[in-house]
This record gives sequence, C-alpha cells and structure tokens, in this order.
Amino acid sequence: MNRTLEPELMDDPLQAKVYAEADFLAENQRFVELFREYFPDFSQGHIFDLGCGPGDIPVRLAGLLPECRITGVDASRPMVDLAEQAVRQAGLSDRITVRCERFEDLAGANQADAVISNSLLHHLPKPLQFWHKLRLFVKPGSPVLVMDLLRPESPEAAQAIVDRYASGAHEILRRDFYNSLLAAFTEDEIGSQLAQMNLTRLLIDVPDDRHWIVGGIIY
Ligand SMILES: C[S@@+](CC[C@H](N)C(=O)[O-])C[C@H]1O[C@@H](n2cnc3c(N)ncnc32)[C@H](O)[C@@H]1O
Repeated sequence: MNRTLEPELMDDPLQAKVYAEADFLAENQRFVELFREYFPDFSQGHIFDLGCGPGDIPVRLAGLLPECRITGVDASRPMVDLAEQAVRQAGLSDRITVRCERFEDLAGANQADAVISNSLLHHLPKPLQFWHKLRLFVKPGSPVLVMDLLRPESPEAAQAIVDRYASGAHEILRRDFYNSLLAAFTEDEIGSQLAQMNLTRLLIDVPDDRHWIVGGIIY
C-alpha cells in the first residue's frame, strides 16, 4: 500500500482535546523509559521534543530526569495550549518550555543536548527535512530517540489495528489513528531516509506490530 498523507498539523481544537484526553499512558511511559534504557548515562542538559503535542511526554521525561530542561515544539496552537496547561498542572514550568513553532523554523545549530520525537514523522510531507534538522540541531555526540507508527500492508490491515487497539476510543481518535497508519512509513523507508541523510549509525527497531523506533547518538 502506498503512503496517503494526512493533514500535517493537528490544529482543530476538538481534535487536539480528544488526543490529549486519550489513554496513551502506557505508550508514553514506555517511550520515556526507553530513553533512559538507551542512554543510561544521560542525566543533564537541554532536551527538545519535536511535535510535542499535548505535552505528556515532556512532563513524564522531566519526572525521570530531574536535572534536565525540556523544550517542546509544536506548530498547533491548540496543542501548545494543552501542553502549557499540562506543564503548569505538573508544577514543571521552571524546567519545561513549550514553543508554538514549526520544527523546520527552529533557529541555530548545535542547540540541543538530546532530541526526542514521538509520532511526528508520519505527519510530514517531506520527512528528510526532519532528519536534516535533527542532524543540524543536536550537538555532536548527543542522544536522539524517535518513535512512530509503521504503515501496514493494506487499508484492511490498518483498520484491524485500529479495531484491536482503539476499539472503544472516540470516533475522532479512531479516524486519526487510521489516517496516521496510512500516512506512516515502513521500516525500509525509514532505513532509506537514514541512509540518504548519512545517519546509519542510528539503529532501527520494530518492537511490536505498529511502531518503529530509531535511536542512537548523532555525531
Ligand atoms: C500525533 S501528534 C504527537 C504528539 C506527541 N508527540 C505525542 O506523542 O503525544 C503529532 C504532532 O506533531 C505536530 N506537528 C506536525 N507537523 C509539525 C511541524 N512541522 N512542526 C511542529 N509540529 C508539527 C502536530 O500538530 C501534532 O501535535
């Protein structure tokens, strides 16, 4: 099945609210714990979360890494509002900042001590821009951890995944999940993107039936 793009930004207020209220607890917790497993010696510095959405991942990561600062970046105003609210509620405003900005427009090079990103890449019409920015934006020798959905082989397989993992979820969330699966990349496509950007030191893992993870140190 070929890739079918979905709208890049999640800037409909109801869509953002439904996403923020969805139960991603286990998935988000697994992502931040993976960061610690991949990079057990990383404990200080400025981490950027590209496409941070409603901010649950930065809040969880700040809890695990009490000496880190985190900047979440998302170009959707409703998502940024929700993320700012989550940060305030967690009492983490001194360590987490949220910026309403396209990651492509982030200024400067060698700014980040680490970059994380979950479920952003499948939104992008031009995924190489993401890997390019990552390369430019992290200091050499810094950790990166990127996770996203895997594109299934057919629309029927995508629908089966939605039914299996989001059976009782809000209709908007089910619609977005289905569209995201159709817009996602295959493991081969991710491998080819990394090769084109000279990022083959980063390792690709496929931990389950619907995700890929790319992690490692960028030099
Ligand atoms: C599926 S959400 C993932 C949110 C969060 N990372 C999480 O795991 O819960 C993807 C987010 O990426 C944002 N996004 C898409 N394209 C973007 C871009 N070019 N720059 C910044 N944010 C972008 C969307 O607005 C959306 O909030």
